[in-house]
Amino acid sequence: MPTPEDQVRLEKEKHLAATAAVRWVRDGMLVGLGTGSTAAPFIAQLGEAVRGGLRVQATATSIASEKLAREVGIPLVEPRRGLRFDLTVDGADELDAQLRLVKGGGGALLREKVLATASDYLLIVADSSKEVPQLGRFPLPLEVVSFALPWVLDAVAALGGAPVLRMDRQNPTQTAHSDQGNLLVDCYFEVLPDPEQLARQLKTIPGIVEHGLFLGLARAALVARGEQVLLLRPGAEPADAASFSELP
Ligand code: A5P
Repeated sequence: MPTPEDQVRLEKEKHLAATAAVRWVRDGMLVGLGTGSTAAPFIAQLGEAVRGGLRVQATATSIASEKLAREVGIPLVEPRRGLRFDLTVDGADELDAQLRLVKGGGGALLREKVLATASDYLLIVADSSKEVPQLGRFPLPLEVVSFALPWVLDAVAALGGAPVLRMDRQNPTQTAHSDQGNLLVDCYFEVLPDPEQLARQLKTIPGIVEHGLFLGLARAALVARGEQVLLLRPGAEPADAASFSELP
C-alpha cells in the first residue's frame, strides 16, 4: 500500500505526464481520450488548450471520460466508419520495457482497445509505479458476458490464473459492470511469462469480450519519475521528454 506521501508524489507524477502529452497535441488532430486518474488530467488540460484556441475533436473511451470532456469543452465525435485517431492518450495499470501493457483497472478496457486499435499513435501516460520488469503483478482484467461467466472462470483457472469477479466499489454487494453492461473479472497470475501466448488463449474462450493485455499497440509512453518525465519507446533508451517538441 502506498503511503500518503507516495500518493501525493504519484498524483504529481500523473499530472506531469499528462502535461507532457498535451504539449504534443496539434491543431486539427482527432484525439482518443483514455480513462483513469492519469487520462483525466490530460483531458482537463486538453480542455484548457481548447478554450485557449486549440482545434481538436475527440472520442472518449468511457462514459466518465466523455462527461469530463464535455465539461471542459472538448468537441466530441461519435464513432463512425473510417474514423481514425491521430493520437490516443491513455493510462496503464502496468507497462514493461517493450511497452506491453495491462489495462482495465478502471473497467474501460474494451473501448480503450477499440480506440487504441483505431489510432495511428497510442501514447501512454503513467506515474512511475506502473513500470514493471515483467507483467502480471496487477491482476489481468477481462470483460465477460454474464451468461458465460462460470465457464470463463473455469477456463481462466485451467490457464493457471485465479479469477475474481469484480464487485462495485461503491456498493460491494453488487457486481461491477462495464459501460457496455458486461461483468469484469480480475485474473491473478502473479507473473505473465508469455503475454502473447496468454492473449491468444484468452481470445479462444467464448464469452470473453476483451482482455486487458495491450500488446504491440503503444508507440510511446510518458512516465514521470519524480520531477522528470521520461519518454519510453520499445527498443530505445529512455529519453528526457522535454527535449522533444513534437510527437516522436
Ligand atoms: C481503465 O480501464 C484503465 O485501463 C486505465 O487506463 C488504467 O487503469 C490506468 O488508470 P490510472 O491512470 O488511474 O492508474
